Amino acid sequence: MRNKITIVGAGFVGATTAHWLASRELGDIVLLDIPQTDTMPKGKALDLMEAGPVLGYDTRVTGTTDYADTANSDVVVVTAGMARKPGMTREDLVGINQKIITDVANNIANHAPNAIVIVVTNPLDTMTYMAYKILSAKGFPSNRVVGQAGVLDSARMRTFMAMEFNCSVDNTHAFVLGGHGDEMVPLVRYSTIAGIPLPDLVKMGWTTQERIDAIVQRTRSGGAEIVNLLKTGSAYYAPGASVAEMVEAILKDKKLIRPCAALLEGQYGLSDMYFGVPVVLGRNGVEKIIEVELNEAEAAMMKKSADLVRGSMSALKF
Ligand code: NAI
Ligand code: 2OP
Repeated sequence: MRNKITIVGAGFVGATTAHWLASRELGDIVLLDIPQTDTMPKGKALDLMEAGPVLGYDTRVTGTTDYADTANSDVVVVTAGMARKPGMTREDLVGINQKIITDVANNIANHAPNAIVIVVTNPLDTMTYMAYKILSAKGFPSNRVVGQAGVLDSARMRTFMAMEFNCSVDNTHAFVLGGHGDEMVPLVRYSTIAGIPLPDLVKMGWTTQERIDAIVQRTRSGGAEIVNLLKTGSAYYAPGASVAEMVEAILKDKKLIRPCAALLEGQYGLSDMYFGVPVVLGRNGVEKIIEVELNEAEAAMMKKSADLVRGSMSALKF
């Protein structure tokens, strides 16, 4: 039996995620959007399937506006939602996307009750929490609801590290924790080039503290950098690739350690919120939350980031 992966929202991130997933033959894919999009999901799905003979992948891709087609999915990726438009506050966005996530989560619970759900919609930590509120009421445990942000934020930091040290991205490792926003927490002490932590590389004279600070800042504004370059819309290639890595880790039971938004119940001194922390990803979703030791400055950054997420969560209406 092939795995079944549903992607809710056939927009830029959804379609790109389908593209990366299809080419890796991780399972059959269902691309779902709202009825107002008419046959658009079918068009994208057929186009993706028609790339299979050229690229040598054998993946069935179905486009639909009907949740019946998502029945018994193993993984559901949620990219449905709106991005912030000029003149719109973060609270306005929370209100609009809360309605969308509520609708999507109820449908997932009804049609794919055993799925592992990966939320991508922004504001990420708040929307993952919202999805969890709906899904947990229908029997989903927290290990089956996870948010994608840290894989992307860490990939951005790794890209900037490889640029700085003029080395392969394969030599880079980065840990970006916290909320997916301006106050995310790139942990320099736990980020390495070929296993050498960044502070040691400063001591060795390979770089300077100022240049490391610039990498941290560029990582924090990585999403905005792409928005400013694109002029319309936000990033989708790296976000899609990040989701695909999570789906692969889950379906292949890889026990992959990556920063993801997970439900905290006391870890890092935080409770009843989704927040970016290192987790083990396997066939049961979030199989473990790893609590790394933080120094005072790092703990203060985590608190500031958590305060920002709490501010966004306060705009949720129950
Ligand atoms: P997009 O506008 O291209 O696609 C969104 C799709 O969602 C549209 O096709 C729309 O019709 C669909 N949709 C709206 N309401 C729906 C509903 N109730 N059910 C099913 N589908 C629905 O936007 P894009 O660029 O794909 O971004 C999607 C979301 O992902 C945004 O909220 C964006 O901010 C977020 N994002 C998050 C990232 C992360 O790292 N967590 C990275 C990149 C984007
Ligand atoms: C990003 O970081 C918009 O959250 C999205 O690119």
